Amino acid sequence: VHPTSARRPYSLVVQSENTSYSDEYITSKFTNRGADVVVSDGQVIVTPTSKPYEFQTARKVSKTGLMLIGMGGNNGTTLCATVLANRHNISWHTKSGAQQPNYIGSMLRASTVRLGMDASGKDVHVPVSDVLPMVHPDDLVIGGWDISGVPMDQAMKRAQVLDWDLQRQVAPHMARIGKPLPSIYYPDFIAANQEARADNVIPGQDKQEHLERVREDIRRFKRENDLDRVVVFWTANTERYSDIIPGVNDTADNVLASIKKSHSEVSPSTVFAVAAILEGEPFVNGAPQNTFVPGVIALAERHNSFIGGDDLKSGQTKLKSVLAEFLVNAGIKPLSIASYNHLGNNDGHNLSAEAQFKSKEISKSSVVDDMVSANALLYKPAEQGAVKGSKAAKGEHPDHVVVIKYVPAVGDSKRAIDEYYSEIFCGGRSTINIFNECEDSLLATPLILDLTILTELLTRVKYRDASAQAEFAPLYPVLSLLSYMLKAPLVKPGTDVVNSLNRQRNALEAFLKACVGLEGSSDLLLETRIW
Ligand code: NAI
Repeated sequence: VHPTSARRPYSLVVQSENTSYSDEYITSKFTNRGADVVVSDGQVIVTPTSKPYEFQTARKVSKTGLMLIGMGGNNGTTLCATVLANRHNISWHTKSGAQQPNYIGSMLRASTVRLGMDASGKDVHVPVSDVLPMVHPDDLVIGGWDISGVPMDQAMKRAQVLDWDLQRQVAPHMARIGKPLPSIYYPDFIAANQEARADNVIPGQDKQEHLERVREDIRRFKRENDLDRVVVFWTANTERYSDIIPGVNDTADNVLASIKKSHSEVSPSTVFAVAAILEGEPFVNGAPQNTFVPGVIALAERHNSFIGGDDLKSGQTKLKSVLAEFLVNAGIKPLSIASYNHLGNNDGHNLSAEAQFKSKEISKSSVVDDMVSANALLYKPAEQGAVKGSKAAKGEHPDHVVVIKYVPAVGDSKRAIDEYYSEIFCGGRSTINIFNECEDSLLATPLILDLTILTELLTRVKYRDASAQAEFAPLYPVLSLLSYMLKAPLVKPGTDVVNSLNRQRNALEAFLKACVGLEGSSDLLLETRIW
């Protein structure tokens, strides 16, 4: 898929002694403010802290490729077709009238940030994508792999996601992409019901050869399309979890040695992640499995290569990360959260197998943990010294269940039913029931685009500790700033996961603003509260 369109130049300018512009870079000064807290003898002692940093963002946007693993699936074909529709400005007819292509659902291209006020005291907002130079999705060069060799126009038809009139018009463009590249297939990792699709696989059982082949695919794609950057993105079937085995996948060297030995516990997604890391290209995991075993994270650290994941946060979990926080922050105590899904696409078919469902269940389950542990007034914290495994040792937590069923008739239109049952004032009870119809691939596609665009941007941002006069250095390889779009965010080992959607968005907004020398969003609005 080749880009054609020209883009308007970048236009936001910050006038401040904290921000400077050169042809190459935007450089900003930023004070990271926090607080150190010590709790002792019933007293909480808080010491404000501040540390000066500088950010340097390269202004030239990389010519970026997006290589999708699982390109012929519902997400892959929907992404290709909708980018093509946008790029070629293809409109289509539905029963409600003419429909224009757009990027609704993309946080970067369809939402705004508040910059400040104009002279009349009115808020001024700009698209998030205008804060820093970012790739336009129409300009992404898209390619990738699939174990199914069905050509892209036919694969789009098979997915049954897009309106027929759009499919009809975009089909010749999709046909030009042809067949996805052959991929790595280890039957043990995805459901047995996927076997019939696997007619486009890299031959042999030698995992080292598979790794080399994928590396060569990335290099060739980069070379043939004259790219500066390739984001490698797993949107293939959910795999089962890999067992974490000492000596096999616990360190960078062990993972590399296990690939050499074709160890059975190395998954296809891990081979792809290792290939991207060794090529110095970012890898994002849009599915829930533990692709990033400890050895892969260590390898990314060793090569300073960016990784992000896990699992796209498109519907039910996104809502949960808002609702659970709303309830707990309102001082209401959720006692149970019960979530049922049914869906009828190939993802649902794959998830109907126990081991693959387990990966999804784990990914969906931890989403309320941080909100619960932040409120010791509602939930008793874990008791130190309590019997291991007992309720007291685990701390109080709402009951949380997740059920997924495969119902072919509903296709890509996933149904999610959630019950939030909470304790309210003086023994009362409140029940909120939500029925959420998620057009799965239409929600997921803008997330894949946002993750790709943000990842490319984050490869261009460097920082330095201004107090130590340090050199500019790249960010830490695990891109936790991508959390907003991910169900089970991967974070720097040893740091806390933030699941609250609001906090994830605030972090991203504050970071983008910091890179141009602006303070994060101030909802204090002091000027509206004082004389
Ligand atoms: P899909 O089943 O339509 O597409 C997956 C594609 O991956 C298929 O074409 C399959 O042939 C291919 N595949 C399987 N193993 C492969 C391998 N080793 N190498 C290359 N290709 C391989 O599924 P869909 O709906 O596109 O979802 C993709 C992934 O994204 C799933 O893991 C799903 O759980 C995850 N996801 C999807 C969300 C959504 O809203 N659509 C939300 C969250 C996660």
